Amino acid sequence: MSHIKIAPSLLAADFGNLQRDVEMVNQSEADWHHIDIMDGVFVPNISYGMPVVKTIQRHATKPLDVHLMIVDPDRYIKTFADLGASVLSVHYEACNHLHRTLQAIKAEGMKAGVAINPHTNISLLEDTIKDIDLVCLMSVNPGFGGQSFIVNTYEKIRSLKALINGKSAKTLIEIDGGVTSKNAKALVDAGADVLVAGSFVFKSDNPTQTIHELKELVY
Ligand code: DX5
Ligand code: ZN
Repeated sequence: MSHIKIAPSLLAADFGNLQRDVEMVNQSEADWHHIDIMDGVFVPNISYGMPVVKTIQRHATKPLDVHLMIVDPDRYIKTFADLGASVLSVHYEACNHLHRTLQAIKAEGMKAGVAINPHTNISLLEDTIKDIDLVCLMSVNPGFGGQSFIVNTYEKIRSLKALINGKSAKTLIEIDGGVTSKNAKALVDAGADVLVAGSFVFKSDNPTQTIHELKELVY
């Protein structure tokens, strides 16, 4: 059994059939539900807010992996803990006091994640990596689903893996954006532990089967 996790991004779900799509993920071989929160300020798009997350939480049977693409995420740490998040990722670029933010997330009983934009260098995580449970490496510019994968990500995975091993940290590497069956295996070979996939899963004819195929590729 592989330890690689697949986290379908509900951003690409059919919101008119949200319960059905959450239940599809429940019944599939996926590991987490990836939940994208956008505020229209940190990123040029607005996704969905607390009432929708509450609905997802009511139907979901797998851990909620929440990705905050918002300014001043400290304001909402407790809110997302109450909404049932297992992993809460904040953006490096949105935090003035990242170390404090990470401690606050853990104090609420969640795993602490840090997402980094394509332009943000891995070396900036050197002094916090031991406090980070998951790094969400953005392989597209955050804000929209369905964009194409940025190839420089492979190099960043390798640098991040070297940093994690060098510091004897236990941080998971998550890849978010443009993940498909074409790059999944190469991403895992480079060192990825969690693959987020939105459009590739939900826009396919048979999402359950697509998740199965992704899982098989990374075994
Ligand atoms: C992008 C989001 C992603 C997005 C991925 O800002 O963080 O999680 O939903 O979607 P795809 O897989 O379609 O690139
Ligand atoms: Zn995301």
